[in-house]
Amino acid sequence: MIELRKITEDNIDEVIALEVRENQKDYIMTSNLRCIADAYVLNENGEPAIPLAIYADGVVVGFLMYTYDTLDHESFENEVFYRKKGYFVWHIMIDERYQGKRYGKLAFEKMLMDMEAMPYGEADYVALFYHMGNLTAKTLYASFGFTEPGIIQDKSIMAIKNLDKK
Ligand SMILES: CC(C)(COP(=O)(O)OP(=O)(O)OC[C@H]1O[C@@H](n2cnc3c(N)ncnc32)[C@H](O)[C@@H]1OP(=O)(O)O)[C@@H](O)C(=O)NCCC(=O)NCCS
Repeated sequence: MIELRKITEDNIDEVIALEVRENQKDYIMTSNLRCIADAYVLNENGEPAIPLAIYADGVVVGFLMYTYDTLDHESFENEVFYRKKGYFVWHIMIDERYQGKRYGKLAFEKMLMDMEAMPYGEADYVALFYHMGNLTAKTLYASFGFTEPGIIQDKSIMAIKNLDKK
């Protein structure tokens, strides 16, 4: 069973110790530790950031973080979602020991379901960026209906999806 749980003193060490494969390090733009620090800063500024440990049958196998924000980056200017509210997938990873067991997909699905309940405010979209070489990520997001408007920042491709409201 997959669960998303808050970061607590009981799981923070395990979350920080999680690692992706050596050849996946270019695919992630942050670390779990940095994300937890960013979440602290964002939340202090009143910008919701939700870091969560991914558990499979009670074992910490991964980590994800999402935020609630306005899609106001200048590269979105000509897009229908410009200045709309959205949930943003800041980071998702499954430790190298546990990849390929559908944990990533199930955790992502759970996160989307959480977002559909609009816990931090109304939103029309879920957005994210993934490294252009990351085929697994591309396939994963496409399987949930994410599309790519053609926005590329550095080596990262934006993918976005309408958020189904519950
Ligand atoms: C991306 C990641 C989170 C996926 O988690 P996972 O548990 O390994 O993947 P899953 O077993 O749940 O598979 C999810 C989907 O990814 C795709 N996938 C998995 N392995 C794949 C591979 N080797 N090649 C292409 N697609 C693949 C499939 O579409 C799969 O869905 P399906 O089984 O229904 O076909 C994980 O591999 C990871 O942490 N990678 C390194 C960090 C990273 O890239 N994070 C994403 C940053 S945007």
